[in-house]
Amino acid sequence: MVKICCIGAGYVGGPTMAVIALKCPKIQVAVVDVSISRITAWNSDQIPIYEPGLDEVVKQCRGKNLFFSTDVEKHVSEADIIFVSVNTPTKTRGLGAGKAPDLTYWESAARMIANVSTSNKIVVEKSTVPVKTAEAVERILTFNNSNISYQILSNPEFLAEGTAIQDLLNPDRVLIGGRETPDGQKAVQALKDVYSHWVPEDRIITTNLWSAELSKLAANAFLAQRISSVNAMSALCEATGADVSQVSNAVGKDTRIGPKFLNASVGFGGSCFQKDILNLVYICECNGLTEVAKYWEQVIKVNDYQKNRFVNRVVSSMFNTVSGKKIAILGYAFKKDTGDTRETPAIDVCKGLLGDKAWLSIYDPQVTEDQIKKDLSMNKFDWDHPVHLQHSNPAAVNQVSIVGEAYEATKDAHGICILTEWDEFKTLDFQKIFDNMKKPAFVFDGRNIVNVKKLREIGFIVYSIGKPLDPWLKDACSGKR
Ligand code: NAI
Repeated sequence: MVKICCIGAGYVGGPTMAVIALKCPKIQVAVVDVSISRITAWNSDQIPIYEPGLDEVVKQCRGKNLFFSTDVEKHVSEADIIFVSVNTPTKTRGLGAGKAPDLTYWESAARMIANVSTSNKIVVEKSTVPVKTAEAVERILTFNNSNISYQILSNPEFLAEGTAIQDLLNPDRVLIGGRETPDGQKAVQALKDVYSHWVPEDRIITTNLWSAELSKLAANAFLAQRISSVNAMSALCEATGADVSQVSNAVGKDTRIGPKFLNASVGFGGSCFQKDILNLVYICECNGLTEVAKYWEQVIKVNDYQKNRFVNRVVSSMFNTVSGKKIAILGYAFKKDTGDTRETPAIDVCKGLLGDKAWLSIYDPQVTEDQIKKDLSMNKFDWDHPVHLQHSNPAAVNQVSIVGEAYEATKDAHGICILTEWDEFKTLDFQKIFDNMKKPAFVFDGRNIVNVKKLREIGFIVYSIGKPLDPWLKDACSGKR
C-alpha cells in the first residue's frame, strides 16, 4: 500500500488529502500538523475549515484511509510520498521584508524530513513557493541525510476556497514538475498514478520543476490582474456614467477574453493573490527586471486604491464624517462560502472607517467574533505570523461589535457596507432594514449584489461599485453638498 503524508493540515492540505483519500481507497493518507488544536478539530465533528462538501468527504474517509495526527515524525518516516503544504507568508522583517516569502516553515519541514527519513522519499511542493525552491530543498535534504534518495516534485495547488472540493474533484488541470532525469521522471509518474485515479490523463500536465513553480505564481498574478483591471474600469465607469456590469458583459463576450473573473468589487483578498504577486515582484527585482516588477506591483496598488476609494466614498457621502455613526458591515470573509479572513478587503475597509471613528456592527455567517477582533487589532502581514502578535493594537476593536444576524447589525445604523457576496444578503428584506435605520439611510455595495433601482425606490441612497452614481453621491464628491 502506498503511504502518503501531508505536512500542514490547512486550507490546502486538509481538503486536498481528503479528496485523494476518497478517490484512492488503497492509499493511506496521513495529514500532520504542529498545531494540536487544528488536528484536534480535524478529528472532531467541527472540522476547522468551512468549505462546502468537505465535511462529508472527511466523514467518509476518516479512520479508514485518512488520518489526522500531530505525530509528524512517525508519519513522515513511514511515507513514500510527502506533500509539504505549510504556510509561506510574506516576510515581515529582514532581507526582502514586505515582498519575499518567509520560507521558515518550509525549511523546518525539510530539515525534519531529512532527520527522520530511513527510506527513499518523493517530496512534493504543494505550498506556493518561489522559483528554484526545489533546488534549496534538495540541498537541505541531501546535506543532512545523504544515505537516502530524494526526488523533489512541484505540484502547485489551484483550488479556490469556497469551491475547493469541486475544484479538486474536477480540476481544470493538475500540474506536476520534476527533474528531467530517469529518476525524476519515475517520481513524476508515481504522482501521476495517484491523480490518474480520477483525473483524465489529458488534464495532468507535466513540466520541468521551474516551469511548475513559476506557473502557480503566474496563474495567481493573471487572476489578480483581471480583478484589478475591472476594478480600474469601475472607477472610470463611475466618473463617466457607464455601468461596469454592462462593460464587463460586453468585454467578456469576446471569446479571447471570456466572461469569468470580471466582476468589479471592493478588491481582492485571500491569503494568496497579494502574497504571490509580491513574491513574483521580488523575484523580478532580484533578476534585475525592474520594469516587469513594476508592472505586477501595479496590480496590488490598484487593489489598495480600490479599497481606499470605497472608504473615501463612504465617508464623503455621509457628510464627510462617520465619527460616532453606526455602520453595519455585512460580510467579512474575503469571499462567500468560506470563513477565511486572510487579507480580506473587509480588514482595510473596517480599519479605514474605525480611523474616522465610526462604530461598526459586523455580521458574517461564517467568521467568528474572535477572528474579527484579532484581525482588526493586527498589523499588516502579522495574520500569518502568530509570533509577532505582540505588535497588535487592541484599542481599535473597542468600537466594534460582532452580531449574529444582518437585521441586528443594521438596526439604528446610518449606513450599510456590503463587503462579501454571501447569497443570503441578496434576499434580505430591505424595506424592514430601511425602516429601522437612521435617515438618510445609505447602502454601499462593495460586491454589486443588491438591486440598486429597488433600493432607491425604498428610499436608500445607494452606491454600487462601478454603477452610475446616485445624484446625492455625485454632489457629495464634487463638493456641492
Ligand atoms: P494554512 O496556514 O491554512 O496551513 C498551513 C499549516 O501548516 C498550518 O496549520 C501550520 O500549523 C502548518 N505548519 C507550518 N509549519 C509546519 C511544520 N514545520 N510542520 C507541521 N506543520 C506545519 O495555509 P494554506 O492556506 O493551507 O496554504 C498552504 C500553502 O498552499 C501556501 O503556500 C499557500 O500559498 C498555498 N495555497 C493556498 C491556497 C488557498 O486557497 N489557501 C490555494 C493554493 C495554494
